[in-house]
Amino acid sequence: MSILVAGGAGYIGSHMVKQLVESGEEVVVADNLSTGHKKAINPKAKFYYGDIRDRAFLDRIFVNEDITAVVHFAAFSIVPESMQEPLKYFDNNTGGMITLLEAMRDFKVKYIVFSSTAATYGIPETMPIKETDPQQPINPYGLSKLMMEKMMAWADEAYGIKFVALRYFNVAGAAADGTIGEDHGPETHLVPIIMQVAQGKRAELSIFGDDYNTPDGTNVRDYVHVMDLADAHILALKYLEAGNPSNAFNLGSSTGFSNKEMLEAAREVTGQEIPAKIAPRRPGDPDSLVAASDKAREVLNWQPKYDDVHDIIATAWQWHSTHPKGYDDRN
Ligand code: UFG
Repeated sequence: MSILVAGGAGYIGSHMVKQLVESGEEVVVADNLSTGHKKAINPKAKFYYGDIRDRAFLDRIFVNEDITAVVHFAAFSIVPESMQEPLKYFDNNTGGMITLLEAMRDFKVKYIVFSSTAATYGIPETMPIKETDPQQPINPYGLSKLMMEKMMAWADEAYGIKFVALRYFNVAGAAADGTIGEDHGPETHLVPIIMQVAQGKRAELSIFGDDYNTPDGTNVRDYVHVMDLADAHILALKYLEAGNPSNAFNLGSSTGFSNKEMLEAAREVTGQEIPAKIAPRRPGDPDSLVAASDKAREVLNWQPKYDDVHDIIATAWQWHSTHPKGYDDRN
């Protein structure tokens, strides 16, 4: 019996694979390496190279392996890119989900844990955001993921495929043992970009906008550690295997940090100056995104271990300072 991790070579997927393998599970990874890294895949996992939109590829996995559940990370996730190339997001994210659910239906795989996102909420009416709040995304990325949530709900209705949608807020940090971490090419996320400035690989941080409706004018986000996120996925799998109904959970720390506060925290953690300037707003950024995550704590018994953003940044800094070229596997 194995768990299929689609997108297991990516940043969050690779941390999930590590956690699953270390908890004694058999893991099969499917990844097209479009953004992930082969070196990020735990050596104890079995790797299939291919694309989840390719039905023959999925069939090969489901025929060869005894898959009991799928954890689905295989999607694009860059908000500004989705504003410029929306169809790329609907094709890979939304389209990929159709093929995956069809294969799950045909091979009678009944459980899926899905990487959803805070971006499905759009501009929240109240803060912190609850799972029952309206989902009105303001960028194609968020919409592509909301469509995937809705597809799963109908696949549950029609075929009995049970799902948990985990709506991540801002994921950061790296495995505490320093073996794997965050390496996107090109990098767009705040924490790794700050790390690159601290390393001297970038001259300065551009803070995108300081005229938002927030206390210091910069965007406020809710940061959650990648290993805490992996724990939540394992709890979600157990929740489904125990026969519970499909559900959605926010995963965040319930505390918001502004971009300026993140910069300050990183200066403290790294001891580096980290030069920064204010730059124009980036399209598609809501003012603030902070999760109410008590539902995950109560229903899944999720107990995040990293409740201080300094500790999250410290694990990111450990990875970046020991892997200045990331996985170093690009041509
Ligand atoms: N930012 C900067 N400068 C940079 C990079 C980012 O100021 O060089 C700012 C952004 O404008 C934003 C904040 O830092 O205000 C966080 O930006 P990220 O790109 O790190 O993350 P996002 O909030 O855009 O998106 C992340 C995930 C999404 C998820 C979202 C939910 O990438 O998948 O969090 O909160 F939907």
